[in-house]
Parts: sequence; C-alpha cells; structure tokens
Amino acid sequence: MKKKLLSAVLAVAMTASLLVGCGSQADVKGATRGNGKVGVAMPTKDLQRWNQDGANMEEQLKAAGYDVDLQYASNDIATQVSQIENMISKGAQVLVIASIDGDSLGTVLAQAKEQGVKVIAYDRLIMNSDAVSYYATFDNYMVGTKQGEYIKQQLDLDNAAGPFNLEIFTGDPGDNNARFFYGGAIDVLKPYIESGKLVVQSGQVDFDNVATANWSTENAHARMDAIISANYADGTKIDAVLCSSDSTALGVTNSLMANYTGEWPIITGQDCDVANVKNMIAGKQSMSIFKDTRTLAAKTVEMVDAIMKGTEAPVNDTSTYNNGTGVIPSFLCEPVFADASNYKELLIDSGYYTEDQLK
Ligand code: BGC
Repeated sequence: MKKKLLSAVLAVAMTASLLVGCGSQADVKGATRGNGKVGVAMPTKDLQRWNQDGANMEEQLKAAGYDVDLQYASNDIATQVSQIENMISKGAQVLVIASIDGDSLGTVLAQAKEQGVKVIAYDRLIMNSDAVSYYATFDNYMVGTKQGEYIKQQLDLDNAAGPFNLEIFTGDPGDNNARFFYGGAIDVLKPYIESGKLVVQSGQVDFDNVATANWSTENAHARMDAIISANYADGTKIDAVLCSSDSTALGVTNSLMANYTGEWPIITGQDCDVANVKNMIAGKQSMSIFKDTRTLAAKTVEMVDAIMKGTEAPVNDTSTYNNGTGVIPSFLCEPVFADASNYKELLIDSGYYTEDQLK
C-alpha cells in the first residue's frame, strides 16, 4: 500500500515537473501544455464513484494549469452527447469521457475528430469510434477475477461437498466494463456451476439475464426481491451473491434485509462506496474492490499532457481493449481487494475517506 501511495504521489509529482519543464511546447490546436481546455464528461452523480472521479479530474487538471469544463449527464445518453457537442464548440482541445453507453458516441466523436479534438476514454471504453487516442482504466477483468476467486475461496469450492446456492448481478449492458467484470468472475465460477457444486436457483446466469440497467441499486433490489420470492421465500439458504459493483450489492443487501430469513450470504462488490464500506463494517457485505480514483485521474492527466505536447503517453496494455476500430492503447491501474480487515489502511490512512464519513 505504501508503495502504491508513493507511486501515486510520484505520478502526480512527475506530471507537475513535466509541466514546469515544457510550458512553451507546441500543442494540439495552438495552446501550450498546462494551458489548454479540457472537457470532462462524467455519466451521473447518482452513483457515488463518479462524483469522486469528476472532482479528482477537475482538481488535478486545474493543478496542472488547464481550464476544465466538467459535466454530469444524469445517466441520459442524449444529455451526454449534447454536453460533448458543447465542449467541442466551446473550444476543448481534449475530451476525457466516462461514457454512459459506450456505443452511442460515434457521431459526436466523429465531429470531434474532424475538428482535431482528441479523446481519452475514461474508465469505460468508448466503442466503435476511431476518435479515441487512449483508454485509462482499472484492470476490469481482474476485478471480476478477484470477486470470483473470493467466492471460490470462501465456499472452499474445491474441497467442500456443497452444493451451494449462488445468484449473480452484474452491470449495465451498455457499459463495456460490465462484460469484463462478469467475464472475469464467471470464468472462475463457471466450472463449479457446470459441475453442479454451485447452483443458481433462479436459472439466471447468462450476461443478459444478470445485467442491471444503469447499474441501479433500485433495479438490483427489485430483481433480488423477485428471486427471493420465487426461490428462497421458505428460508432456503443463499450461500453467495456475486455483485459486480457496490451499487448492485446495496440493492441486493436491502432486498435481503427486507425479505430473506436464511443465513446471511457472501456478497461481493466493487468501488468501496461509503454505504458499502459501512455495510462491510457491519458484516452485511463481505468484500469490495478499491479502485483509487486519484491514481486513475493522475494517469489520465499524464495522457492529457502527452496529447497537448504532441508526445506519447505511457501505457501498459496494448492488446486487451479493442473498441471495434482497433486496439486502444491503455493504462490499466490495479484494483485492490478490500474488506472489513483492511479498509482502515486502504481508505482512511490513505486519505480517501475520513473516519467520520464511515460512521
Ligand atoms: C465502473 C465501476 C462502477 C460502475 C457503476 C463501471 O463502469 O468501472 O467502478 O461500479 O461503472 O458506476
């Protein structure tokens, strides 16, 4: 952890020192590094993490000397498209976009490309557009692997007799990440489902059947209500619920509290949202995945700098993320396992949350 913090600090420091050294270099569309306009398009304020992502991006870009136009689109695709159009017409040279639906930005980004505006896909890959220069994200497949491995270990699937009951909740079908989270987890769990050691009583296993529109807590809650009433109303034990995110885990937890009388299941999550960390401390959620959005923002600022300067940004993956037009050079940050035993070190000691926020 210390190492990670140190590298995050170093990344910011390096970005800052690069800026000092290169203030006068030529840029995209005539501005200088640390002296240009960056549009930041975020999906929604309703899901906790994007508030942090937006705030970190704004803070770090401003510290690097850029003008920032930060917009949230209330999970509405048309709103996001028009916000991006506005950013372009107001003179943004680089766009940092966390898309709502990865496949809906082709037209507006063709416009960006035509006008020489560069695009960084932030956290979520933008599909089928050749306007995307870079992708900054976490290792999404690894997130799913860690969630699947956790269930495998906790239930001791290789040794215990079972069978165990499992239910599955993943994210929005328009978010390319959801398929990676699901894929990472299901690759671990599928052999046990096939052998019958894990039983999905609802029968809902395929991606389309376990997706959650908008990653919404309410949608997950409603689906879990239906699953419980059809399969577990008599107190039949649910051993584990694979949830790709904290937003879905929260809906599942709320539904279990209202409707379920059996022994409490293992519940996975992702993001270390405040409500979910509280649930972990209270024993209602088993684990989450910590994705330090400060590090992601720092990596993205490095990409912005490189674009403005006309150089290449550091990437660490050039084979995984093909958006339909080719592989997008990516930087994948490392997702970290979190539970009640390490949240203090990860989240409080690192300054991500204050202790009061988690009370
Ligand atoms: C992000 C997750 C998040 C989800 C819902 C995904 O694209 O990668 O961290 O839980 O969106 O906000």
